[in-house]
Amino acid sequence: MTHTRLSDYLQQQQVDDALQQVVHAVSRASNDINHALSKGALAGVLGAAGAENVQGEDQKKLDVIANDLLKATLSAEPAVRGVASEEEPDVVPCHQDGRYLVTFDPLDGSSNIDINSMVGTIFSVLAHTGSEDAVEADFLQAGRQQVAAGYVLYGPSVILVLSTGKGVAMFTLDPDSGDYLLTDDEVSIPADTGEFAINMSNQRFWAEPMQRYIAELLAGKDGPRGKNFNMRWVAAMVADVHRILCRGGLFSYPWDNRKPEQAGKLRLMYEANPMGFLVEQAGGKVWTPEGPILDIQPQQIHQRVPVILGAANEVQRCVDYHQAG
Ligand code: F6P
Ligand code: MN
Repeated sequence: MTHTRLSDYLQQQQVDDALQQVVHAVSRASNDINHALSKGALAGVLGAAGAENVQGEDQKKLDVIANDLLKATLSAEPAVRGVASEEEPDVVPCHQDGRYLVTFDPLDGSSNIDINSMVGTIFSVLAHTGSEDAVEADFLQAGRQQVAAGYVLYGPSVILVLSTGKGVAMFTLDPDSGDYLLTDDEVSIPADTGEFAINMSNQRFWAEPMQRYIAELLAGKDGPRGKNFNMRWVAAMVADVHRILCRGGLFSYPWDNRKPEQAGKLRLMYEANPMGFLVEQAGGKVWTPEGPILDIQPQQIHQRVPVILGAANEVQRCVDYHQAG
């Protein structure tokens, strides 16, 4: 069976040349990241880097390696005006005639590295419309403005998931040729589900509507929902969202009362927005308790947001509980 190569797919979708170059740059960097990940302990790349990122989180060595690989590859690409990364405090201006801005989480779920479990790279592409040298204000565009978004999941297979605004396509890395080959272009999230993903250990810190929503799922057949729900939590958003794109489900990382001033754990511009773009393109919903995530006007590149995404009817019900409360 022959599979369409990523490069042919992008041409068929009539993606402009500059955007094609951006996607190819991400795909090249992901090959290099995958190589570093698969060498693991043999290359001495596991463990802590001994520093914190701008979010105050401990960096893993592979967070730093993945960030350096993506930053170097993207900033060498003339189509890229600037980049912003979870691991960089400030935006990085690149080429003055580049058309696109790229934000990324170089290695999402990096606490999974040391247990050889799934991690991923998340990216979002925005058109550049502002100043000559890209500055933070140029990046502060609502998620709905994204021209492309996607992720690479480093798992048993390496999978690139991409949307340029015309649905969602999945490509599997062929380790023999290094090419990403199209393996699914009909990605769709059913509106109903019997599966949810949330870090249950935080339950007692959530707002009352979220506690109620999850308590009703846990009550299963005997509760108000009248059916049993299954739970999964990979602790890497990229892997949990991948499962939802493959077989449906609901994912949430809600606000919790230990840090009331912090909106949530996940970051809007390089986690929630790109994943949200994919989920909406696959027919799902992506909300905070107040409204659609993709409509939020960002105030800064590292801002956080509570996230409820996936099966449209379940997201709606969860949001309804919040709005009624
Ligand atoms: O990037 C943040 C992140 O690692 C997500 O990928 C993941 O969904 C979440 O944090 C895991 O959080 P916790 O450590 O609470 O399980
Ligand atoms: Mn992350």
